[in-house]
Amino acid sequence: MPTGNICKRGLTVNTNASALSDQTRNPPAAIGFAKSPTCVNVRRRTTPRHRTTQDRSAVALTSGDVDLDAFTELLTPRGQRALAEAGELAGADPVAAATTLRKTYDATLTSAALTQAGLRERARAKFGQDAGVMYFTPHGLEQSTRAEVAEHRARRLLEAFPGAPKVVDACCGIGGDLLALARAGCAVTAVDTDPLTVAVARANAEALGLEATVTVADAADVRPEDYDVLFADPARRTSRGRTFDPLAYSPPWPVVLDLLSRAGLACLKVAPGIPYEFIPEGAEAEWVSYKGEVKEATIWTGREAARRATLLPGGHTMTATGVQAPVGPTGRYVYEPDGAAIRAHLVGEVAEIVGGRLLDPMIAYIAADDPVDTPWATRYEVEDVLPFSLKKLRTALRERQIGNVTIKKRGSALDIERLRADLRLKGDNSSVIILTRIIDRPSVLICRPLSPA
Ligand SMILES: C[S@@+](CC[C@H](N)C(=O)[O-])C[C@H]1O[C@@H](n2cnc3c(N)ncnc32)[C@H](O)[C@@H]1O
Repeated sequence: MPTGNICKRGLTVNTNASALSDQTRNPPAAIGFAKSPTCVNVRRRTTPRHRTTQDRSAVALTSGDVDLDAFTELLTPRGQRALAEAGELAGADPVAAATTLRKTYDATLTSAALTQAGLRERARAKFGQDAGVMYFTPHGLEQSTRAEVAEHRARRLLEAFPGAPKVVDACCGIGGDLLALARAGCAVTAVDTDPLTVAVARANAEALGLEATVTVADAADVRPEDYDVLFADPARRTSRGRTFDPLAYSPPWPVVLDLLSRAGLACLKVAPGIPYEFIPEGAEAEWVSYKGEVKEATIWTGREAARRATLLPGGHTMTATGVQAPVGPTGRYVYEPDGAAIRAHLVGEVAEIVGGRLLDPMIAYIAADDPVDTPWATRYEVEDVLPFSLKKLRTALRERQIGNVTIKKRGSALDIERLRADLRLKGDNSSVIILTRIIDRPSVLICRPLSPA
């Protein structure tokens, strides 16, 4: 296989045949448009000649760094023309797209326009139609709040402080939250330490016709006393990648706590796995999931203390009542609560809804005898319950001709993919198997997924 770079009509093309699969595995770092004025770095594999749609999007999504000067140029009339043309080329072969744009624009603007067009495509999943006119940086997009979640938060903020509250966003990123707050009617002032990010957030407000004041500043210099509401979504990335430790957040945790303590009403977005001991006393902690995936936790201070779970896009919400689930035997059904309810420690409340009991006091699987349709849990019909043994499980699945399994686990250290291989599945039937503990005994439930009512 050929390997290396060739420079052809201003394009550096890496002909390493493995490049495309590398991109798929590690998109942002693998390829990018170079800042060099003469060359655009694009990795291309030589065979097969035709890329799949997935391959194409892997290439299109792979963006280089966004640079402040290039971004500023993108906002000029010429930059906007380049961006519009790059948008029309979305999905085309990136080498061909770059070649087309280079006939009119220099390499820096070509790179900036193609990168931005790729980011817009990628942002559709989070921002829907708005993504088509918004601007992004790769990190800014990654860290931004999905529109539906930001809208939910803005709605709750306005419930707590109706009217047109003055809100300060102390670390605004590319503006996922500030845009939702401004759109909901808040008067938003926002800061971020990164000048490019501020330029992007400003451009986003303008592109969406929203009013917001966005400046370069450190959150530590924000005066929450001057606003009705403080909002903060600290960066959870370090030089080594994503962090789950609040003490590694930026702005630093003590700065965040100081801001909260000086604000009347405050809302702080944190990782869903935030250890409970970090939640300030008297605060409301809300865990939000979107389509069954837990996205974030929000800490509200200045409103009634609660533990809350919210399911989006449906908007179902529930707070802790303190009910404890009983522990009892397996039943005809097993329910798996939504992750937001589990994180919010609302498993007892979900068990009450389905009339169920826990299989193990420490594990969030609920056994019940009746089929109850609820957004708070996924229900499976139990066909068999076995003490865990690879041999017995393999035999049970063979007898049922189960060749396709979805494996779920809680309270089991087994490696799912290893188990799947060890089961040597054969047959046309499908099943859900649940690995868990039942009063401390490693067990497996063989289940049928129920289609929703
Ligand atoms: C998670 S992002 C915010 C995302 C934003 N809520 C959104 O939806 O687009 C965190 C931001 O905090 C900024 N930041 C980090 N430390 C900061 C500090 N000390 N003061 C202000 N901003 C800071 C980072 O530059 C980053 O843009």
